[in-house]
Amino acid sequence: MTDATSHHNLRPRQEPLRLGFLASGGGSNMQAILDACSTGRLSAEARVVVGNNSRSGALERARNAGIPCYHLSSQTHPDAAGLDGAICDALVTHGVEVVCLAGYMKLLGRRTLSTFRGHILNIHPGLLPRHGGQGFYGRRVHEAVLATGDIESGATVHVVDAVYDNGPVLAQARVPVKPGDTAETLAARVLVQEHRLFPETLQKIATGEIDLERLV
Ligand code: GAR
Repeated sequence: MTDATSHHNLRPRQEPLRLGFLASGGGSNMQAILDACSTGRLSAEARVVVGNNSRSGALERARNAGIPCYHLSSQTHPDAAGLDGAICDALVTHGVEVVCLAGYMKLLGRRTLSTFRGHILNIHPGLLPRHGGQGFYGRRVHEAVLATGDIESGATVHVVDAVYDNGPVLAQARVPVKPGDTAETLAARVLVQEHRLFPETLQKIATGEIDLERLV
């Protein structure tokens, strides 16, 4: 979009986008975003990382990068509302503007959802609305793609609401499904695209090309 009218709508930001991360697993998507921040491809900074698994790679990566991080889960907070409150407080305390679900396998609580309404993004390893919803995460998405005989798959970045994998789609990247693919080979091909798509989408938010306020 290069014409004067669309350019007029861009709202360049003075300050880096303040990101918070929720992650359950290895944290490679979070790492791709951190790398984009350090190389200047993304005008953003990581303020806090919350992991629901104390031994997750995501928390390890956060510690290595010197980012404040917390293990918050049903182990630390057996009461669901208490856990929701602790997650929300961590994000608010660290001044987070946009929450990135970077391989986060839990549904968010009502307080976090309402406090950050329209400002929570998820990356899904498939082409939503196909193969989304409760039970479709990680490897299960790739198994479903193969079982259905789809000829392509991909990654989706979308805004999160109270329903799994339901909110407005911001960006998608496609990959072919190849003969002989297993869930692992397909996952690896999709993951390459995830690592490109999530930072690129965040940069569009940082520059104002995507305006989250208008999607709420
Ligand atoms: C990614 O493939 C992500 O799309 C998926 O989990 C993986 C996490 O990898 N997320 C979901 O399935 C969410 N429903 P990572 O921890 O290495 O970023």
